[in-house]
Amino acid sequence: MKEKIMTDHIRASYQPVGLFEDTSFEKIHNVIYDSSIEGSILVANEIAQLIKDKQKENLNCILGLATGSSPVKVYEELIRLHKEEELSFRNVITFNLDEYYPMEKNNIQSYDYFMHEHLFNHVNIVLENINIPDGTGDLDNLYQSCIDYEMKIKSYGGLDFQLLGIGRTGHIGFNEPGSHINSGTRVITLEHITRVDAATSFIGIENVPRKAITMGIGTIKNAKRIVLMAWGANKSKIIQETIEGEISSIVPATYLQQHNNTSFILDEEASSELTRVKTQKLIIQIT
Ligand code: F6R
Repeated sequence: MKEKIMTDHIRASYQPVGLFEDTSFEKIHNVIYDSSIEGSILVANEIAQLIKDKQKENLNCILGLATGSSPVKVYEELIRLHKEEELSFRNVITFNLDEYYPMEKNNIQSYDYFMHEHLFNHVNIVLENINIPDGTGDLDNLYQSCIDYEMKIKSYGGLDFQLLGIGRTGHIGFNEPGSHINSGTRVITLEHITRVDAATSFIGIENVPRKAITMGIGTIKNAKRIVLMAWGANKSKIIQETIEGEISSIVPATYLQQHNNTSFILDEEASSELTRVKTQKLIIQIT
């Protein structure tokens, strides 16, 4: 197994695993919190620290960002840090994971709209530093715009930090089952389960786009640091498969087992299917 290169200050900021907890089935570092609020604040603090560290060195901080319900509280805390503790986003350059296709930017279902609503409108980020895959382009130019997105990330020296959620299909970004480990930014067809999960916000599955533009697994895996968050019982099964299962394109998130600086931040419900958690419950019941 590859050596984990998590730095000391990151390791210290997350809770250590209890001495008698059995993590032998786990192939990805993970930390379990009582609540998603607690976990989100820790993640926001890690991002804020990275931004400040880069500022000290006069460097840009290149962040890969996610949408959906999982990162909402992280963004709330980053906004609070900006408003109350003077965290500046002047040196921050962002690349979002994905966007539905086709999708107008001003549509309230677009990830572009989501990001402005939940983060960008409330902090001092330079608008030109925001990058989100363009869901408005015509099909003929899509291939080129995906390559351009990939090249732009590379031109900044890659992502310093990638924030992720996970879909019930095991997707990260919109890399659905079957995605290749070296895939780059591209157009993908969404799985039925993914469209079902998005149906409420689109007021009916028939309104959910069938396609999306997503950074690839290769793009994500090139990030220097990856943090994936999962909250709630409906993520527990896919979290167990991702952390304890074998690497497989059927569960694309398992590719993260090969990344040497990834942490999963979970709440109790999302962790409930892990062997460590289940055996712990068993011990408590027996004793
Ligand atoms: C969103 C994204 C997706 C979501 C995943 C989980 O930009 O890339 O992979 O992170 O679908 O969504 P939530 O957080 O809504 O459960």
